[in-house]
Amino acid sequence: VRLLAKHGQLANKKILITAGGTREALDPLRYISNRSSGKMGYALAQAAVEAGASVTLISTVELKVPFNVQLIQVTSSDDMMAAVSDHFQTADVFISAAAVSDFRPSQQQTQKIKKTGNEGLTLNLVQNPDILATVAATKKNQFVVGFAAETQDLLNYAKDKLVKKHADMIIANDVSQKGIGFNADDNQVTIIRPHERPQTLPVQSKLETARSIVTEIAKELADQLQ
Ligand code: CTP
Ligand code: CA
Repeated sequence: VRLLAKHGQLANKKILITAGGTREALDPLRYISNRSSGKMGYALAQAAVEAGASVTLISTVELKVPFNVQLIQVTSSDDMMAAVSDHFQTADVFISAAAVSDFRPSQQQTQKIKKTGNEGLTLNLVQNPDILATVAATKKNQFVVGFAAETQDLLNYAKDKLVKKHADMIIANDVSQKGIGFNADDNQVTIIRPHERPQTLPVQSKLETARSIVTEIAKELADQLQ
């Protein structure tokens, strides 16, 4: 472990990563969620370990945990917010790869919702806090990376998110294309940074994409030191 950590582009860095879609409970049995597989977050965790970082992964899914990654299992956006808040201050880099549910049921029923007597059902949802924007607003030296999942106007929406979320880098993801992005094995992303031209990576596996992203983050950290 020690030997590994001394070398690599992210040696001696603490990386905090979120992964997967959050689940927002309706009642003890049901939840609303999204199609995120968590694979991109896990790939980033692996790539960061390979680069010598000490990695904490806050995840809603149960995938094979890469060697040497500290896993924190969560379910709801509420749990995720608490776990991220606990670890953000001591991190050097925060990568928000989770697909946090934008809304949650306004009330969580303590008993199973029954169909008897209900012809239909209207759900009342309230907006969840933005985990990334909330913690990034308190950042000191942390390098903050967000994702932008878009089905249209990718670059403009992604640039907006860079500013709104106080991020140093946005990984923009066109989720309208089958076979890449959400719940797929491959990915193609465009890296957005302040004052730099968007950089589109080739279609490649999520692990290869993650390694490229980690390399770009490491370059930014090296620049910060100069
Ligand atoms: N994010 C977050 N907390 C939320 C919503 C999003 O931390 N409640 C983070 C995601 O992890 C991602 C980034 O914000 O890194 C962008 O998520 P995205 O869903 O693309 O953007 P939103 O701000 O939620 O806007 P919208 O879904 O309306 O495009
Ligand atoms: Ca969203």
